[in-house]
Amino acid sequence: MTTSARRHEAHLLWASRPSLALLLHAARFAPPIARVPRLGWVVRDPVLCREVLNGHRHFTLVGEGGVGHLWAQVLGDYVTELFDGPGHLRLRTKARDLFTTKTSAGLVAEAFDAPLTELTARLRAGETVDIADASRVLVGRMLATLLGLPTDRSDEEFRAIFAEGERLAALALSTTSSTVLTPQAVTEAREIVDRMTAGIPAGYRDAAPGTLLGRCRELDLGPEVTRGLASLLLVAGTETAATAMSRAVALLHDHRRVDALLAEPDLVDDVVREVLRVVTPAPVIGRHVSADVEIGGRLLRAGEQVLLLTYAANNAAGRFDPGRDYVPETRQLWFGGGRHLCLGAALAKAEMAALLHALVRTGRPWRVVHRKPARRVLIPRYESLQIALAGGS
Ligand code: HEM
Repeated sequence: MTTSARRHEAHLLWASRPSLALLLHAARFAPPIARVPRLGWVVRDPVLCREVLNGHRHFTLVGEGGVGHLWAQVLGDYVTELFDGPGHLRLRTKARDLFTTKTSAGLVAEAFDAPLTELTARLRAGETVDIADASRVLVGRMLATLLGLPTDRSDEEFRAIFAEGERLAALALSTTSSTVLTPQAVTEAREIVDRMTAGIPAGYRDAAPGTLLGRCRELDLGPEVTRGLASLLLVAGTETAATAMSRAVALLHDHRRVDALLAEPDLVDDVVREVLRVVTPAPVIGRHVSADVEIGGRLLRAGEQVLLLTYAANNAAGRFDPGRDYVPETRQLWFGGGRHLCLGAALAKAEMAALLHALVRTGRPWRVVHRKPARRVLIPRYESLQIALAGGS
């Protein structure tokens, strides 16, 4: 890894989320699992992380410390049933086919084909393009497509949709040590959810069979669960996906891997996997201990909280290297594990691959002209990442 690539990584992390950078720095010197005042148990070992994610009898995400606890406050108590226990199993069994590789490819083609063709053309014409902004607009389009909102909109409107999802996720920003939301945060989150999911009942009733809402109807999820699921997609699939997309472009440039990708576009899938490992857009996962259990030789008591440092766990395998062999310890820990494994994993990978293919289609290497990290955000990311084709104006 070049010094400048390392510098860019460190700068991004510290600028975007200093508390996370500090925690990850400290974790480098900590044992695989340690108890930290105010935070609870902190786990940085990939195998122990997976043990917690798979330990459904001892860990839950609906108790304090888990994301389900947050959303129950916003969406209502039915989320508790939806997020864990029999309700969750029923939902996941039914929703399994919502985001397969095939359906994801269809969704990405529908939402991204036209704007990505334009992006390729703009770069070819010698323009400088802000990939961070373009990723937010693309993901805003995807959200509109998923939520059954009109897609005949301006980029400004897609940015606004993205911002709603980002704001909703940011309400969790202050929750590294607690998942209890302030009444003000609950009100604000409810307003966003109401605005963004207002069309769900009608969409659920009338949407065409091939659409996401139409498929939810065919799966008989019911309008309330579909609305809960839509809110989750808004939170889970917004900043994570856009961050991964733009950071892929920066990482390839910073690690001088663009030429290799242009020479062999089939490498896109390997690049996507390695970017996800290094970026780990969900850098921390929280769980609540529901029953006493021993993990890594430590006794965790019911009622305690656990923070899985997935970023640290994934990055322990080494620096960005798309030629890296499969790492059995991490597997795909960037998408979590166990029964809450990311529902939108195939969609996220298809979104990232589509952007990279659009850049490959320019036929020329790109260079980063200017970059600016976002400040105080949930997921370390670029506010702006301007690229141009090498040899262009
Ligand atoms: C690169 C992008 C993404 C990453 C890294 C990512 C990561 C994750 C992780 C780590 C979890 C597990 C959280 C936990 O166990 O507490 C998760 C859950 C989830 N993700 Fe993703 N995600 C991404 C994109 C998406 C997209 C695009 C969607 C859908 C549009 C999505 C939908 C979901 C849903 C619905 C869950 C909850 C699953 C459940 O609790 O059963 N994600 N994601």
